[in-house]
Amino acid sequence: MPRPLVALAKWGKIYNPSYLYNTKDMSKEPIILSIETSLDDTCAAVTRGTSVLSNVVSSQTSYHASWGGTVPDIAKRLHHEWLPRVVDRALSQAGSPKLDALAVTIGPGLAPSLEQGIAYCKLLATKYQLPILAINHLEGHLLSSFATNKNGKGSSLARHSFSDGVALGFLISGGHTELVLMENIGGYELLGETLDDAAGEAYDKVARLLMLGYPGGPILAEMAKIGTPKYHLPEPMTMRKDLSFSFSGLKTAARQYLECEKPELTQEFVQDFSASFQKTVFKHLMTRFRRALDLYSPAMILLGGGVVSNVELRNLARSTAKEYGLKTYIPYSKKLISDNAAMIGVVASFKYTRGEFSNPASLDRLPNLNFDKVSSLL
Ligand code: KG4
Ligand code: ZN
Repeated sequence: MPRPLVALAKWGKIYNPSYLYNTKDMSKEPIILSIETSLDDTCAAVTRGTSVLSNVVSSQTSYHASWGGTVPDIAKRLHHEWLPRVVDRALSQAGSPKLDALAVTIGPGLAPSLEQGIAYCKLLATKYQLPILAINHLEGHLLSSFATNKNGKGSSLARHSFSDGVALGFLISGGHTELVLMENIGGYELLGETLDDAAGEAYDKVARLLMLGYPGGPILAEMAKIGTPKYHLPEPMTMRKDLSFSFSGLKTAARQYLECEKPELTQEFVQDFSASFQKTVFKHLMTRFRRALDLYSPAMILLGGGVVSNVELRNLARSTAKEYGLKTYIPYSKKLISDNAAMIGVVASFKYTRGEFSNPASLDRLPNLNFDKVSSLL
């Protein structure tokens, strides 16, 4: 199949477009090596189409924990040191297949972290004469439910077409909380996002106030499972009838309660306070979720982002969607929910088929990359 002209134009001067044009079969399922270094996980994966052949995540968490957050200089140094080994492992776990392309996260994220992944990807592109696909990390989370394992098993989403109508994506991570309308793969509109902190960020900050360590979000969630939501924390933005989120007021209310009341941080208190915080977070998330369902009548729901690891949240989103007669999709494994490179490979496979390659000469990080906003916000 001939490559679309637009893709050839994007390809630029560094490589000869005819090299791709002559040798690539754009209709086959491409084998892609993907690199993801948007924050503090050094990740590489090999995918064939949307099948995950390997998915290596090397977490830097323990190096940042004593600082209470990600330290950009440390993240940059570790990505630089670890990338060659992480990439080699991803390739060997996949059986060292012949690659069709490389993919890399270009944003959003921490600039020094993104730069390391992009620089290494360019190095590999030159060495192996492979084209590069530039990927939005948020699209990775959004499409992570399309991933299947080596045997083609995943969520039944892999067989979905958008003929039934639009999909509603709900991204809930450490850096983003967004409702996204999907008309098709590649066609997205940002319906609403957080005006300040992201949901995962609020979990981590309140966990720190409760002395639960870093990143404390998952620990707080474990505490919440056992606790009773006895404490009143105000639901954010009840007066605002749009699809935006806010979590910093909730975090401040939690801090003020702890500073004024000075409760002893007994296990029972921490469990009950965590349950109270989580209940309020869920209420805020579900108010906006329901509003989006009412306004946009989607045909299905896609959940993505690290906070979706929270089983209670997943169940709540599922049962809410079920009230509307809708099915909710989540990635088939926990590893695909938090940051990983296989989700980048899934997006890359769709971009490959559309011939959307990047010019390595102008490929650069976009730390604030997002989806385009809907033109008429509510
Ligand atoms: O998507 P992700 O891995 O990284 C970003 O792109 O931000 O999300 C990480 C976030 C962290 O804030 C972490 O505390 C939160 O996801 N998280 C959770 C749970 N597991 C991870 N939050 C609530 N409940 C959980 N079980
Ligand atoms: Zn993420």
